[in-house]
Amino acid sequence: MAKMWAGRTSGVVDSIADDFNSSISFDCRMYKQDITGSMAHAAMLGAKGIISQAEADTLIDGLQGILDDLNSGKLEFDLSCEDIHMFVEQVLTQRLGDVGKKLHTARSRNDQVALDLRMYLREEIDEISQLIRRLLQAIVKQAEENKHAIVPGYTHLQRAQPILFSHHLLAYAMMLLRDLNRLKDCRRRMNVSPIGSCALAGTTYDTDRYLEAERLGFDGICLNSIDGVSDRDFCVELLACFSTVMMHLSRFSEEIILWSSWEFQFVQLSDSYTTGSSIMPQKKNPDMAELCRGKTGRVYGDLTAMLTTLKGLPLAYNKDMQEDKEAVFDAVDTVKMCLKVFAPMVDTMQTKPENMKKAAQTGFINATDLADYLVKKGMPFRSAYQISGQIVARCIREGKVLETLSLEDYQSYSDLFEKDVFEEIDLLNCVEKRISEGGTSVASVEKQIAYVKERLA
Ligand code: ARG
Repeated sequence: MAKMWAGRTSGVVDSIADDFNSSISFDCRMYKQDITGSMAHAAMLGAKGIISQAEADTLIDGLQGILDDLNSGKLEFDLSCEDIHMFVEQVLTQRLGDVGKKLHTARSRNDQVALDLRMYLREEIDEISQLIRRLLQAIVKQAEENKHAIVPGYTHLQRAQPILFSHHLLAYAMMLLRDLNRLKDCRRRMNVSPIGSCALAGTTYDTDRYLEAERLGFDGICLNSIDGVSDRDFCVELLACFSTVMMHLSRFSEEIILWSSWEFQFVQLSDSYTTGSSIMPQKKNPDMAELCRGKTGRVYGDLTAMLTTLKGLPLAYNKDMQEDKEAVFDAVDTVKMCLKVFAPMVDTMQTKPENMKKAAQTGFINATDLADYLVKKGMPFRSAYQISGQIVARCIREGKVLETLSLEDYQSYSDLFEKDVFEEIDLLNCVEKRISEGGTSVASVEKQIAYVKERLA
């Protein structure tokens, strides 16, 4: 069948080339935005007298009918149409006759697709932000329930200093709050309307781009028509935001995987978010966390694909840009799916404070506090560091920990040691002494919880 754009050519395209060219199989997901955009366009054409008011009303009614029928399933996408834009216009013309052919006045698919994509993505940003909030709530809940649990804090994955598990969890809350902010910024820059840029140069009709933009909930319009149709920065930016979200989920996943290993046993995931092995009866595998970690690579790939597609593209529209949607849609779907499983996985995760404490007691993570003790008694830090190191080495040789050495043992290293040393190296005390702003003390954790909750309110 000849295309709607037949004229200059026969409009008959080789069937394999036609499939190759077609995007309706994936851009059909923007049908609501496409139709809503077209309704605003028809209204603007009517308001400006470019078509009659009666024609505008007919178009709007017709478009509403198509929207209803697609929503109810009465109308199905015709995959032989090139894209969603052509499909809607074709059905409209079939239903309304010649009036339907007036809809595309003072418009091009180039500004239309840019409009649809911005409208679609801003909705997804809102939904994804909501999912991030759900995860933040789960983190806050766990932080509150495990406020006093002590774990080793790690650097180089070696036990370093005692921290509160809640403090550790709240580090992820800070990351996710930044993600929310980034998405908000991205949405703000995205929320300007390209419609009315037309093919690339604007139009000779007396259109009102502001009217159309306002009706569609935009904060403004793209000020250069060439930029309006060729800009996909909003996709790049969104994919960068998503990549950062996924990087955070991936780091968190990695820790959850470690924590639920037999070696750590700091947490136990709910059966609902783990799987078994087909051969090893004892297994409880953290597949969901592993998949979130794994899918991070996909989203980075989507960002790289988008940047690479745009690189070197001359202005203005080029068909290469049709590749934007699959990358962005894949990332949207992936991020949503990961967040949907991640939040309840964290929410239902059972913590094992006894095991955390056991780990905290055996790694000499209070050695810094031992050195600080000597410093407070007047010894220069570097000397105190050296003596504490020697004491740790001796403990390792003798199978002891700092808490089980005798006062005499301590005094054989320095006469600055008194019996208050034991209080100084008590793990809870080590944590509670870290009162610096943002440190690991209970008071600091409570402040952080309040901050996150306030941001979520
Ligand atoms: N399906 C196209 C896309 O996704 C719509 C724009 C087509 N414009 C054109 N001049 N062929 O980019």
